[in-house]
Amino acid sequence: MFASLRMLSRRALASQVSRVQSIAQVPLRQFSSEAAAPKSGGGGWKLAVLIGAAGGGLYYAKENGYLDDVMGKAPAAAPKSHDYDQVRKAISDLMASDKAEEYDDGSFGPILVRLAWHCSGSYDKASNTGGSNGATMRFAPESDIGANKGLDVARKLLDPLKEEFPWISYSDLWTLAGAVAIEEMGGPHINWRPGRTDQPDGKNCPPDGRLPDGAKGAQHIRDIFYRMGFNDQEIVALSGAHALGRCHRDRSGFDGPWTNSPITFSNEYFKLLLEEKWNKKKWNGPTQYEDKTSKALMMLPTDMALVWDKKFKPYVELYAKDDQKFYDDFAKAFSTLLELGVPFHEELPAKA
Ligand code: HEM
Repeated sequence: MFASLRMLSRRALASQVSRVQSIAQVPLRQFSSEAAAPKSGGGGWKLAVLIGAAGGGLYYAKENGYLDDVMGKAPAAAPKSHDYDQVRKAISDLMASDKAEEYDDGSFGPILVRLAWHCSGSYDKASNTGGSNGATMRFAPESDIGANKGLDVARKLLDPLKEEFPWISYSDLWTLAGAVAIEEMGGPHINWRPGRTDQPDGKNCPPDGRLPDGAKGAQHIRDIFYRMGFNDQEIVALSGAHALGRCHRDRSGFDGPWTNSPITFSNEYFKLLLEEKWNKKKWNGPTQYEDKTSKALMMLPTDMALVWDKKFKPYVELYAKDDQKFYDDFAKAFSTLLELGVPFHEELPAKA
């Protein structure tokens, strides 16, 4: 090493020293697509180069490319916002595909929203663990827990997009898909930004029990969502996502859609909660509620808790009356949810 250093020209030293110094001061970006950060051994060389430069005693072996050998490669260019636009478009195309028309109520939207929510909703504020960063749901035990049953469908749907855009992390892809799905189903724009990185294995999977159990009541809902850092109003706003999609007997054990338009984002869920009469369904399944009028719609015990609890109910009333307020509050809370525990860097591009 030092023999080769002596062969470096003084001119190269002068120009490279300032580059070393500026690189040393630039915080590493968090994009999954960038080259790996230099290993700690590389940091030792970096120090050696800096010390040498300060003393003026070290010379470079060649004028170009030497620094990369010592430091490891400089970070590759970060994906541009138009790259994310291409992913957005691919997600929209997936949602508009013939395959989607044949699925459930004619859209992959609801299950993409549920994937984004379940990968994020494992966050624990106190320990700063869980959350969308890491995409640990690719691995057992998180992939196998009861609450995540059926989400393999959504993960498999997005795998070809990961192949098409290998520079995006799974965690960015899954959360972006949830945001795009909300927008494509007529919902508000969701502020979303990239920067999540993937874990290589399931060692840091969050423990089971962090996602809500639909069979329980208001206290359980608060325990789960307060743990993530949400308040009552945000809990009610987020629950409005149940305007979308349905329960599947072979996944959660519950059955049926919440609204008559399960692939359109709306405040219908809140209206129905207040305006319909909900009776306990008589069936050979877990306790759920059915509307008196058509008996075709359903509510979970946790949904009913939003009108039975006197602190939650005023927000149900607010959102049933004012859909714009619901859209605004949902967009904020959902964006926050997707970012829980994500160590974003200051120099990330503006929200995409
Ligand atoms: C107390 C809180 C919550 C409980 C107990 C709960 C429970 C459930 C259950 C049991 C299902 C049915 C899964 C199936 O059988 O396929 C479901 C579906 C769904 N949930 Fe929630 N959820 C909650 C909160 C949320 C939140 C915060 C969001 C999003 C912001 C959300 C979005 C969805 C969507 C879109 C579906 C439909 C998925 C599909 O059609 O495949 N949920 N939820």
